[in-house]
Amino acid sequence: MTKVTVQSPANIAFIKYWGQTNENIFIPRNNNISMTLSACQTITTIERSSDIKEDKIELYNGTDYAPLFKDTHKNKNAYDQVERIRKMSGSKDKVHIRSKNTFPSDAGIASSASGFSALTAALLLVFDQKKIFNDKKELSKEVRLCGSGSAARSVYGGFVELLTGNSHDESYAVQIADENHWDLVDIVAVINTNKKKISSSQGHASADSSPYYKTRLEEMKSRIKTTREAIVEKNSEKLGPCIEEDTISLHIVMMTSKPANYIWEPGTIAIMKAIVEWREKDNLQAYFSIDAGANVHVICEKKNAQEVQKRLKAIEFVKDTIYNEPCTGTHEIQDHLF
Ligand code: DP6
Repeated sequence: MTKVTVQSPANIAFIKYWGQTNENIFIPRNNNISMTLSACQTITTIERSSDIKEDKIELYNGTDYAPLFKDTHKNKNAYDQVERIRKMSGSKDKVHIRSKNTFPSDAGIASSASGFSALTAALLLVFDQKKIFNDKKELSKEVRLCGSGSAARSVYGGFVELLTGNSHDESYAVQIADENHWDLVDIVAVINTNKKKISSSQGHASADSSPYYKTRLEEMKSRIKTTREAIVEKNSEKLGPCIEEDTISLHIVMMTSKPANYIWEPGTIAIMKAIVEWREKDNLQAYFSIDAGANVHVICEKKNAQEVQKRLKAIEFVKDTIYNEPCTGTHEIQDHLF
């Protein structure tokens, strides 16, 4: 019997991954850049033994560990990843897996980035693939193969770019700067906890049906360059506009794809407008970023965080806020969940 435990963070994309060049091995159409989130982590423990009869994945739901059924594409991907990495090792042992998030499961924060990176890394360790686990580039490629490209960015701490490419070997994560580089924070304004109506994989597949997707891709090269520079220079007034432009570009594509995907709620727009007003009226430097959910991630420097959080809490639609700093990427820990 062998047991390992891994911890891995979620991340917020400043430049979003949307659309794929290869849907079988999940290669993103454009390079994408993110920051790891300290308050949004997944911890995953895996036990491997020849005595275990069947693979079992269980997720903590706040009170109990509940089995993960193979009823969605995503859940199936998790079991496929077990099979793939076991095969790689030549073993026939089955596994018992338990996974727990440090953030509320009903907060509307996508747990796939933290969940799939923790799962993949723990599988590699438990099936004796330590060499791949220790090599972040290789680890990010293995994580990407589980179907969640955003998860590949979580292997490194801090500020990370996932590269597009023409083959499996060309698409991997690189670190732009580590978690100690810059006191930037992400305060998530939680307004809606409904499940996504259209999954990211459906979204990637329909991106090309938007007439604006071509424009998004054309803009991408210069936006990626400016974002990289802004991070290295720690320049929030250079970074902020890139983050907001990329969010708007992504959501224009989503809203004009077939089928159209309207994600914003009244609260989403109220927060976006408030942030712009705070900048214009009070010179409070904060910027919005929105993924495939209605919640708003608010990016600002730590020196402005208290004021931003106070103002967000005063907006009637905001149910809760989650404060995140950049943190370390995927790593092994010694405290097992069972
Ligand atoms: C909008 O294919 O990584 O979050 O695994 O569901 O998170 P999930 O999807 P994935 O696409 C990510 C889409 C995005 C933007 C981003 O995080 O880059």
